[in-house]
Amino acid sequence: MTIRRVGVVGLGTMGAGIAQVSVQSGFETIGREVSEELGERGRATIDRYLSRGVEKGRMTDVERDAALGRLKLTTELAELADCDLVIEAVLEELDLKREVFAVLDRVTRPDAVLATNTSALSVAEIAEAAERPDRVVGMHFFNPAPVLPLVEIVRAPRSSDAAVEAAFAWAEQAGKQPVRCNDTPGFIVNRILIPLLNDCVRVLDEARVEPTDMDKAMTNGAGWPLGPCGLIDLIGIDVHVHASEALHGKLREPRMAPPERLLQMQEAGDLGRKTGRGFYEYEGR
Ligand SMILES: NC(=O)c1ccc[n+]([C@@H]2O[C@H](COP(=O)([O-])OP(=O)(O)OC[C@H]3O[C@@H](n4cnc5c(N)ncnc54)[C@H](O)[C@@H]3O)[C@@H](O)[C@H]2O)c1
Repeated sequence: MTIRRVGVVGLGTMGAGIAQVSVQSGFETIGREVSEELGERGRATIDRYLSRGVEKGRMTDVERDAALGRLKLTTELAELADCDLVIEAVLEELDLKREVFAVLDRVTRPDAVLATNTSALSVAEIAEAAERPDRVVGMHFFNPAPVLPLVEIVRAPRSSDAAVEAAFAWAEQAGKQPVRCNDTPGFIVNRILIPLLNDCVRVLDEARVEPTDMDKAMTNGAGWPLGPCGLIDLIGIDVHVHASEALHGKLREPRMAPPERLLQMQEAGDLGRKTGRGFYEYEGR
């Protein structure tokens, strides 16, 4: 199926980024927020990022205005009726996502593809809320969505080939690097990266290593572009702890559980770049 019109449910961190990717790639896009005020906030975020692109010479102001002109806002899920692809990016709560999918299933055409951007929930459990779970897939973008190329296209047991391939093809058209995988906890990257980052944090204490030396070790010895402590600060300690707990809850491997040191940082409110302090201090963030 050809995707022309895209719906994005939730214009928070991920949803605004996904809507930006969509309008920038030429797709008519309708973003749904719970209030007009939040919708406008999402639009302002997109405007800000696109305008930064103009300042840096990556696009012209005419291109920015055209991209913004492709974004419509609504507070009603029913207004996504004409979309060929709807990507859901609401809070990571199973009941909420299931509610959204039950409505989307009713209001959209039967051949529309419905995708969830969940990081850690089961796509199959979300899809069960729809009468036609065959058209539900996972589309797991990475933060920031306009910058990071990867999208994991997640096949749940009942996802149809047509839905998986339509989502994959759209991600490619939107300039992304999609990969296919099955619906397993953490999909590909988080399944590997979360326990690995947790190991790095445990080594800080076990081997009495300073964060700067850990990052020096992994950038110079393992070729990482960014050290693990800098990376966790960028992800946000709270986001990483939440993802670790979700993965540990499903796989029960001790390495998946968040290390005590991260729990203490979370408790102290040292959440990384966003609070100005994590493993490192950040001024003028
Ligand atoms: N932030 C990340 O690094 C990241 C990366 C990949 C995937 N994800 C996933 O993306 C999804 C969204 O995460 P985010 O970081 O953008 O969160 P966010 O908090 O920035 O945005 C949450 C969105 O949910 C909406 N929302 C809240 N309550 C709602 C309700 N009752 N009904 C409908 N919508 C409601 C909000 O209006 C907002 O648009 C989650 O499933 C998360 O796991 C996040």
